Amino acid sequence: MFGKKKKQVDQAELELLKNAQRRIKQKKGVYTHFILFLIGSVCFIIANLVLGIGETVTIFNTHWFVTAIGVWFLLFLYHAFNVFVTSKFMGKQWQDDQLNQLITKQKAKITEMQKQVEKDFPLLASKSTIKTKKQANITLIVAAGEDNAIGKDNDLIWHLSDDLKRFKNLTDGHHIIMGRKTFESFPKPLPNRTHIVITRQDNYQVPTGVIVVHNLEDAFDAARSDSQPFVIGGGEIYKQALPFADKIELTRVHESFKNADVFFPEIDASIWKATNTVLHEKDEKHAYSFSFITYERG
Ligand SMILES: NC(=O)c1ccc[n+]([C@@H]2O[C@H](COP(=O)([O-])OP(=O)(O)OC[C@H]3O[C@@H](n4cnc5c(N)ncnc54)[C@H](OP(=O)(O)O)[C@@H]3O)[C@@H](O)[C@H]2O)c1
Repeated sequence: MFGKKKKQVDQAELELLKNAQRRIKQKKGVYTHFILFLIGSVCFIIANLVLGIGETVTIFNTHWFVTAIGVWFLLFLYHAFNVFVTSKFMGKQWQDDQLNQLITKQKAKITEMQKQVEKDFPLLASKSTIKTKKQANITLIVAAGEDNAIGKDNDLIWHLSDDLKRFKNLTDGHHIIMGRKTFESFPKPLPNRTHIVITRQDNYQVPTGVIVVHNLEDAFDAARSDSQPFVIGGGEIYKQALPFADKIELTRVHESFKNADVFFPEIDASIWKATNTVLHEKDEKHAYSFSFITYERG
């Protein structure tokens, strides 16, 4: 395992060394060019002024050697510019190789992370399967405090009779999907609704008519004939079902409940838009004011 890694490092070092050598050669080339330019220029001056070669030849009204030295100097500047300014230290090929190596490493990391997510959250990972199989119009119905509190000690934290009425009206005649703990928080199954209870237990016993499933996908399948099945909680099931929901019927209780032990997940404002809000004031029958808010995917 370690041997293999060492080989990769050596290869990278070798590449660095090669590039450093190439760079040294390029710089040496510039210095050599400069020396040649100086010697050449002196030779031109001596040839013209001392030896009288081309004494009468002029270019642009100046001695030919001045023009020749000027042109050579420009060529030298171009050479030096290429080496020191435009030529990147490691060359384009090396940069491309590094980029490819980085991309490959990142892809491997992402694959690794995806595997971990699939392992940790099997239900979320199978989201695409559920999406293709599920019928439209899955509604989450919930009552939550300002801090998203929904329950404590496997019970509700408040009693709001008008909220219960609304729950009954909306879910009447429909399939209601719930976690095992929420099911157990009812004294008995609610009338005129088809209960679908999600549990990991193999032999979970329920009254006649109650459907038991072992994952969310099977719960949606069991409610296939319903044009609007409701997910009614609790915390664990809301969290898993939220990505597949089309609507949320939220009763926002205008109070925070510090002692709660179960919470509704955060409603992402970039995904969900409130399409209807009705305020219900606090009164003698209701200890808190609350609002019925309908959220739909925006
Ligand atoms: N305010 C509201 O609107 C509202 C609504 C409903 C509930 N609540 C409150 O919420 C609380 C209950 O919520 P909770 O989060 O504790 O429990 P829950 O979501 O009702 O049920 C959790 C149980 O569901 C089963 N389960 C969860 N994920 C599963 C999966 N992927 N596959 C198979 N089975 C799975 C497990 O049952 P097993 O352990 O049997 O395997 C798990 O223990 C209570 O306090 C209740 O009063 C509030």
